[in-house]
Order: sequence, then structure tokens, then C-alpha cells
Amino acid sequence: MTRTVRDYIRTIADFPHEGIMFRDVTTLFADPRGFRMAIDQLLHPYAGIAIDKVAGLEARGFILGGAVAHQLSTGFVPVRKKGKLPGTVISEAYQLEYGEAVMELHDDAIVPGERVLIVDDLLATGGTAEAGIRLCRRLGAEVIGCAFVIDLPDLGGRARLEALGMPVHVLTAFEGD
Ligand code: PRP
Ligand code: MG
Repeated sequence: MTRTVRDYIRTIADFPHEGIMFRDVTTLFADPRGFRMAIDQLLHPYAGIAIDKVAGLEARGFILGGAVAHQLSTGFVPVRKKGKLPGTVISEAYQLEYGEAVMELHDDAIVPGERVLIVDDLLATGGTAEAGIRLCRRLGAEVIGCAFVIDLPDLGGRARLEALGMPVHVLTAFEGD
């Protein structure tokens, strides 16, 4: 039977700590058909739509976002964790399970009015993606959507992003962990 994107995702129990079912996309990325299928399905809603840049969220969003940008013939900009980008940056803090983290974007990464697609591997609480949306919008971007391979609906990220007016595209969801 034909395998779907979901079939290539490995689940590792109790990582990074007890009680967590970790959805591991390295097995999806490692498979030639799996990776290609994931990229094709991620970009499918955006074929023929005007997009200037893909913004990938560190770290796994770089792998997917780079391939999506290449296929859509757009530019690619990295949204990185604090302290990694060499130029002048803008920053947005977001909540983690324990404490706070900061995402950054070069202040010249986006020209006002550019249409941007945000890409990451997984949507959980939506905090990381919301930080990415805020950064892009602060530079004057029109963020046209967010695309993820995996949604964890129990954590509410999709509703959170939709409340910001953001269309959300996901390939598969894991519920009830
Ligand atoms: C994971 C995942 C998403 C984010 C989702 O990244 O890759 O980027 O968490 O969580 P959220 O919706 O609750 O914000 P992580 O921060 O573990 O870092 P990594 O991608 O660099 O491994
Ligand atoms: Mg991540």
C-alpha cells in the first residue's frame, strides 16, 4: 500500500522526558519518497500564488522551508534563535513549557509589502510560529499563511494562529497523547 507522510514519522516515547510522545521527522526527511512527498504537500496550496519569501523557523523549519522556497522560486529568510544572526535584528520573546525563549530576524530580511509564507515542522502551542508571524509583520510583511508537517491539536496552536488571522496548512495531526 502507498505510504503517506504520516507513515514516515517515527514516534519515540518518553523523549525528552517521561510522558512525552516525541514525533520524530528525521525518518521522514531521510526517506527519498517521504521527503519529496512532504515538500510537495506542504507547497501544494501555494502553487500559483504570489509569494516573495519563505520564512523558516529554526531548526527543522530550515530544512523544509529551504526546499519549499526552492520549489516556489522564492527567497528564503531564517527566523533564528537568539544570538545566531550576525546583522541587526528584531526580536520576539515567546513562552516555553519552562521559561521563555527569543526568536530573531534580520531587520532587512523583508521589504514592506512582501508576501511571506512561514514554514516549520510542527505546530504545538503555536508560540514559536506566533513569534515568527510577529517578526515578519513588524517588518511590514503580509504573512499569507503558515505550513507545518505536524499539528498537535490538543495544544491549541492552530486556534491561536487562526485567531491572528492566519490561514494554517498542516499535513497530519496527532491527538490524544
Ligand atoms: C519545536 C518544533 C517547533 C516548535 C513547536 O522546536 O520544531 O518549532 O517546537 O512548538 P510550539 O508550537 O509550542 O512553539 P524546538 O523549539 O524544539 O526547536 P528545534 O526545531 O530547533 O529543534
Ligand atoms: Mg522547531
